Amino acid sequence: MGNTCSFFVRKHSDDESKFIISKEKISSSNGESQVVEGREFHNDPESVYVLAKDDIEKKRLNEVLGYWIWQLNFQRRNTMDQIYVKNYPKNCRFAIGNVLHENPFEKRFDFVQMRYFAVALRANEWDEAYASLFNQLKPGGYLQILDTSIVKCTTEPELLDINQAFSKLIASKGQDYDIGSKLAKKMETAGFNVICNNKMEVPMGWGSKRSVRYAENMRSLYISIAPGLAEQLHIDIDECIAKINRACDSMGPTKATVHVWSYLAQKPLDAPKAISSL
Ligand SMILES: C[S@@+](CC[C@H](N)C(=O)[O-])C[C@H]1O[C@@H](n2cnc3c(N)ncnc32)[C@H](O)[C@@H]1O
Repeated sequence: MGNTCSFFVRKHSDDESKFIISKEKISSSNGESQVVEGREFHNDPESVYVLAKDDIEKKRLNEVLGYWIWQLNFQRRNTMDQIYVKNYPKNCRFAIGNVLHENPFEKRFDFVQMRYFAVALRANEWDEAYASLFNQLKPGGYLQILDTSIVKCTTEPELLDINQAFSKLIASKGQDYDIGSKLAKKMETAGFNVICNNKMEVPMGWGSKRSVRYAENMRSLYISIAPGLAEQLHIDIDECIAKINRACDSMGPTKATVHVWSYLAQKPLDAPKAISSL
C-alpha cells in the first residue's frame, strides 16, 4: 500500500459510456441470459447471482486480477504462485460447472481457486460448496479462496447509502454481506486445514494508481446493478447512477477502504477421498 496517499479525483474517461446502461427496461431474454437495462445477466432460476455476465463485466473482473496477484505475492511463502501464468498453456481447458452440483469433471484436482463468490451463493450454500470442493480435491490438495467485502469502510453518506442498498439487495436473495469473514470456519467444518488466513484493508481510490483503478472498477460494478440498487434506495435509475458517481468520486478524498480476505486451505493427506459420493 505504501505511505504516499495522494488524493485522486476521478477523471471522466472517453470510454466511460461503456459503463452507461441503456434506458430500455428488460428488453430480451433467452434460455441462458436476460438483458436488463442493456446489461446481460444469468437467467438460471436456481441462482441468486446478481452481477452481470457480459463483456463489460468480464473486463472488470480481469482488471481486478492485478490486485489479487499482488495479494498472492504477499502470501508467496504459502501459495503456489507459479500457478499464475502469463499465457495459457496448451493443455489448459475451460469448462463450466456448478459448485453446488456433483463433480462434473470426473476427476480430482491438486488445486482449486474460488474467487469472488460473495454474491454468488446463498448463505446456506457455502457449507455445501466447500464439501463439494473437498470431494473434488485429492488428499493433500489445496483450496485457495479470495473474496472481498460487499460493505466498504467509509463515513461518506452516499457511499454508506450504496453499502446499505447493496447489502439489502443481496440479503433479499438469501446471501450474507459479511460472508468473507466466516469462510475459514466453514472450510474447517468441511474438513480442511486452514493454513493461511489473511484479512487486509485496501484503499479505494487513493494511495496508488492501482487503488484508483479499483474505485473505477467498483463504479462499473455498481452501475451494472443500478436498477437493483435504485429499487432498494427508492429512487429512479438516473438518480441512482448520479449517486453512484458521486459516491465513487468521493472514495479518494474520503479515503474509503475495503476488506479483502485470502485463505489457503489443505485437504488432509490422510483424509478420505470424499466425504460423500461424487
Ligand atoms: C464475481 S464473479 C467472479 C468470477 C471469477 N471467479 C473471477 O474471480 O473473476 C462470480 C462468478 O461465479 C459464478 N457462479 C455463480 N454461481 C455459481 C455456482 N453455483 N457455481 C459455479 N459458479 C457460479 C458466476 O457465473 C460468476 O462467473
